[in-house]
Amino acid sequence: MERPDGLGFGADYNPEQWGRHVWSEDRELMLEAGVNRATVGVFAWALLEPRPGEFDFGWLDEVMDGLAGIGVEVNLGTGTANPPQWLSSRHPEILPVRRNGTSLWPGTRQAYCPSSPVFLEHALRLTRRIASRYRDHPALVTWHVNNEIGAHVARCYCDVSGAAFRKWLAVRYGQIDRLNAAWGTTVWSLRYTDWDQVLPPRQAPAFANPGHVLDFYRFSSDACHSLYLAEREVLRSIAPGTPVTTNLVAGRYGPNLDYWRWAAGLDVIATDHYPDSSDPDSHIELALAADLSRGLAHGSPWLLMEQPPSAVNWQVRNVAKLPGELTRNCLQHVARGADTAMFFQWRASLFGAEQHHSALIPHAGTDTKVWREAVALGGILRRIGAVRGTTVSAEVALILDWESWWSLDMESQPSIDVDYFDNVHRIYRALWEIGVTVDIVAPDADLSLYRLVAVPCLYIADLETGVRLGEYIAAGGGVVVSYLSGIADSNLHLYPGGHPAPFRDWLGIRIEEFFPLREGEIVALDDGSTADVWCELFHAGSAEVLAAYQDGPVAGGPALTVNRHGAGRAWYLGTRLDSSSLRTVLAGALQTVGVSHQSESGRTGVEMVRRRDETRSFLFVINHTDEPADVVAKGHELIGKRDVAGTLRVGPGRVAVIEEGRDQDAG
Ligand code: GLA
Repeated sequence: MERPDGLGFGADYNPEQWGRHVWSEDRELMLEAGVNRATVGVFAWALLEPRPGEFDFGWLDEVMDGLAGIGVEVNLGTGTANPPQWLSSRHPEILPVRRNGTSLWPGTRQAYCPSSPVFLEHALRLTRRIASRYRDHPALVTWHVNNEIGAHVARCYCDVSGAAFRKWLAVRYGQIDRLNAAWGTTVWSLRYTDWDQVLPPRQAPAFANPGHVLDFYRFSSDACHSLYLAEREVLRSIAPGTPVTTNLVAGRYGPNLDYWRWAAGLDVIATDHYPDSSDPDSHIELALAADLSRGLAHGSPWLLMEQPPSAVNWQVRNVAKLPGELTRNCLQHVARGADTAMFFQWRASLFGAEQHHSALIPHAGTDTKVWREAVALGGILRRIGAVRGTTVSAEVALILDWESWWSLDMESQPSIDVDYFDNVHRIYRALWEIGVTVDIVAPDADLSLYRLVAVPCLYIADLETGVRLGEYIAAGGGVVVSYLSGIADSNLHLYPGGHPAPFRDWLGIRIEEFFPLREGEIVALDDGSTADVWCELFHAGSAEVLAAYQDGPVAGGPALTVNRHGAGRAWYLGTRLDSSSLRTVLAGALQTVGVSHQSESGRTGVEMVRRRDETRSFLFVINHTDEPADVVAKGHELIGKRDVAGTLRVGPGRVAVIEEGRDQDAG
C-alpha cells in the first residue's frame, strides 16, 4: 500500500488557491524537495460542484495528471469537509446546533450536522463522482474521506441529531425501561415513558445526568464514524482496490471521538498532529500522539497526514519552530512508526482563514529556513527509506480510554482540576523522560507482551477488566494505577463497597472518601515528595505503604502503595505527585519488573527508539537538548552515512538513525 521504495513525504496541496503558473513551479519544487505524496481536493467541493449537480473536474484532472507526471502519489480528498455555500443556503437545516440551542452559521468550515441526511446525500453524490472519475488515475494511492471529522463539530444537538440519538438508543436498550435503569432516572424524577421524550443533553437548569451525557457522546462518536463509513462504502464499491482512510486527530486535540472504535474502519491509520506551542516540551506530547497512532494501527506502520512545518494560526500565541525542530518533530513520528510523513500545507496561503499558518513554501519563498529544512528533510527521508515497513515494540503499555476521558471532563465530578489528558500526559512524560518506549493501548488490549502497564484515571472499568488485569499481574506483570480508576461501570454507575471495586483485590486497598484539594494547595509526603489536586482517604489492607501524607486533609494516611499479587505487583498512586517523584516511582516499578531504561545512564531529553523487522534494527536517536549526546551504538548511521563502532556523538538538536549491526556503507 505504501511506496515500495521508501518513505512517503509530502503535504496538503491546495493548487486551487493559486494560478496555473504557480502549478508548474510547484512541481519543480516538489522534485527538488523529493516530495512523493500530496493530499489534494480536501476543501474543493465548491469548485468541483459549483452549482447543485453541476460538476467541473477540469482543473483537478490537470492537477492529478501533473502530479502523476512527476511521480507524486495522491491521497485524494472526497471534498466533503465543508459544504458549499449553495448547500447551506438551500438547506439551512444541515447546520449544526450547539448544546445551548444556538445554530452555527456557515462561512468557515465543517458547517454541517454529522447526522444530517441532506448533507449525507450531497456528500455521497460528490464522493460517487470523484470515485468514478479518478479510480484508475495513476496518481491515486489513497482515498482521503472528508477531513478531521468531528474536529470542529463532534456533537450536534439539533432535532435531527435528537431523532438519530433516539434510534441509536432504541438499538442499544430495546426497551425504554432498560434505558431508565442505565441512566438512573429515578434521580430527580427523570423517568421516561416513551422514546420521544428523550432529547440530546441540551443546556438545562442544572447539571446533566452523566449516563445520559455518556450515551450522547457515544452516539455522537458513532454518528461521525457512520459518516466516514458511508463514504467508504461508496469508494469501495466503485474503486475496490484503493485503500480508504481519513485523518484522525491523535493526542491532546482529539478528545471527542472514540478512535478505538474507529480504527478498524480505516485501511491505513492516518493521523494529524499539532504540538501545543505554549508547551516548551511539546515534543513529548508529540511522542505520545505518535505512539497512540501506532496503537490505533495495532503496531503496523501508519501515515502522518498532517504536521505543521512551523507555526500554526489557531493557538493563542503561535510560536514558530526553531531551526532543526521541523526535522526532529518529523523524525520522531517516523521513529515511532510513521511510514509517510506529510505536512499542512505545501504553499502558504496569501488569503483566507489560514493565511498565517506556516507551510513548506513560506510567504517569503524558498530562500528561507523552512524551505531549506524541508529540502534537507526530503534527503534524510530518502536516506533512511529502508526503515519502511519495520515496527516498534515496547515492554510498557499505557491504557488510554476515551470514555473515561469524556466522563472525567463532565460537570459534577469531584474536582475541576482533575484533567484526564493531563494525567495520561504526566505518566507518559515521566516514562518518556526515563527513556522507555511505550505502547498506547485500549482497555481491552492483550497485555501479555508487556512487563508494566500504566493505568491513569481509568474511571470506567468493568469487573471483567479488573479480572483481566488481575490475571496479568498474577502471571508476573506490573500495573501502576492512578487515582480515579475503577470507579464506575459502563453506565457510569458507581461501585458500592469502597473504590476501586474492580481493582480492590489486587491493589490491596479500599478507598473510603475522596479529598480533592483546594486550588493551588500542595501536600507533603513522608518520602520527600509533594502532591497537588487530589487526595483520598484510603486503607492499605494487604498493600505495603510506600509513602504517607505528612499534612493536608488526610495527614498520616497512605498516599502510595504497592501490593504483591501472584507473581506480580500492583502500585497505587492516590494523589497527583510532583513530576520528579512520579518519575522516581515509575523508575522503581520498571526496575522491579525488569525493564531496563535509558535514565540508568543519567540522560534525559535524548529520545531513543528502535524500529525493527526479523533481520534488521534501526536505532533513532533524537537529541532534544542543547548539549551533544554520546550514545552507545554499533552499525551504520544512515543520515550522515558513517560507520559507528561503539559510541556515537549526536550534536545538540540533531538526529541520527543507525542501522544496527551493519558496519559498512552499502549505499
Ligand atoms: C487541521 C486541518 C487542516 C488545517 C490544519 C491547520 O489539521 O485538517 O485542514 O486547517 O488544521 O493547522
